[in-house]
Amino acid sequence: MTFPAPGAVPALFARDLRHGFGGVEVLHGVTLGVGAGEVVAVTGPSGSGKSTLLHLLGGLDTPRDGEVWWAGERVDTLGTQARAGRRAGRVGLVFQHHYLLEDLSVLHNVLVPALLTGQDGAARARTLLARVGLAGRERDLPGVLSGGERQRVAVARALASRPAVVLADEPTGSLDRANAEVVAGLLLDLAREDGAGVLLVTHDERLAARADRALHLLDGRIEEGEAG
Ligand SMILES: Nc1ncnc2c1ncn2[C@@H]1O[C@H](COP(=O)(O)OP(=O)(O)OP(=O)(O)O)[C@@H](O)[C@H]1O
Ligand SMILES: [Mg+2]
Repeated sequence: MTFPAPGAVPALFARDLRHGFGGVEVLHGVTLGVGAGEVVAVTGPSGSGKSTLLHLLGGLDTPRDGEVWWAGERVDTLGTQARAGRRAGRVGLVFQHHYLLEDLSVLHNVLVPALLTGQDGAARARTLLARVGLAGRERDLPGVLSGGERQRVAVARALASRPAVVLADEPTGSLDRANAEVVAGLLLDLAREDGAGVLLVTHDERLAARADRALHLLDGRIEEGEAG
């Protein structure tokens, strides 16, 4: 299936997403697009549905209604396995609580997406680890890392398979300000270099100001505003 709109294919596109839990609807029709190389910040009050939205956009959950497209392919209609396969190659995820695999080394954590897509990602993984300041830490287990170091591993992992789309849910939420700026800067720089489209949920206004565009989620609907 090809993307229906004329012009450049967005990295990420969602049309009229509706979703909820039990009898409660949380998202009442969210439409958004993120261009290749574009960074879009999503802000909104606690409970407004930001994480719910990111889960739908990352294909970790299926919307009750609406469409999700990654790099020109509709994916909400795919089966779970097919979608997981597409996700491994096209989507990088960074969450507030960096879910590193504790029994795997730093290097192997970063290599997981490449392994899933059958790429030989070792050189890329080492380069990314060096870029996030963790050269020499490849063999360490996550348990010995600081919070900021763990989050930098999560950033490297998210970018390992050169994804078209990077989804980040409060990627710096558990870090102090200095570390938060370093991690966020790395995420945005690396994603921009690769031409990935980034959607970033954040409560940090300084981080939101570094985006190209800001979307505000209020009462399950998107309001668009200028970043910065
Ligand atoms: N798995 C779930 N089961 C039931 N309700 C849920 C579930 N996930 C989220 N919700 C509800 O959906 C609403 C939106 O939650 P969500 O986590 O998306 O908010 P958020 O904007 O990310 O908030 P925060 O800024 O606090 O992270 C909340 O009322 C929440 O209780
Ligand atoms: Mg949330």
